[in-house]
Amino acid sequence: MKKITIAIDGYSSCGKSTMAKDLAREVGYIYIDSGAMYRAVTLYCLQNGLFTEAGIDAASLEAAMPQVRISFQLNPETQRPMTFLNGENVEDLIRTMEVSNHVSPVAALPFVREAMVKLQQDMGKEKGIVMDGRDIGTAVFPDAELKIFVTASAEIRAQRRYDELKAKGQEASFEEILTNVKERDYIDQNRAVSPLRQAEDALLLDNSNLTIEEQKQWLAERFKEAVKE
Ligand code: DC
Repeated sequence: MKKITIAIDGYSSCGKSTMAKDLAREVGYIYIDSGAMYRAVTLYCLQNGLFTEAGIDAASLEAAMPQVRISFQLNPETQRPMTFLNGENVEDLIRTMEVSNHVSPVAALPFVREAMVKLQQDMGKEKGIVMDGRDIGTAVFPDAELKIFVTASAEIRAQRRYDELKAKGQEASFEEILTNVKERDYIDQNRAVSPLRQAEDALLLDNSNLTIEEQKQWLAERFKEAVKE
């Protein structure tokens, strides 16, 4: 069976990662969470005092970019990828509200995007990859054989993130998360470089009212069609 590239884009917290991870595991592909990479750069900024009163210190970050090394390793127990920043496992640290609240301006910096896109393209050179994000089908892999654009209402997405944080024992306010989801939608859609938009040849999936199982089936069928010789 031929190996393909699968790009899954869409709004924040709409279940992209879950569907991308599950599909990758089922078909034996590599899974890359591109959002984790922007989150890791943001964590680096927070840890190194690059957020000032005036916002992100872009000049210092640009100078530091060669020292920001991001990689992934599979967790042998869960078979899920863990994100590493300069050799340290930061998988939990990059999922906090603090990082969520700071990531958009970092992901909007052209030199950050350029470095991440290059890394992502290198990771996908051999195909057999599922990558999720905002610009995978438009900028990273415009030739991907299967492109999905996922959406769900802001309230449903905020509820999912709230449940996720609660399950991990983290403090969370639904209103704060909803505001964060809406703000990120706005910034993601309106930034100058690679704004979030559906690629012309992407299939639209609104999963507001789908169970994970229904979504899985839908995706498995799209995959079967895409790998047909
Ligand atoms: O998917 P996520 O919420 O973990 O993404 C974190 C942030 O990174 C989000 O604000 C959008 C940004 N992002 C991006 O600009 N491009 C990508 N390919 C993936 C994420």
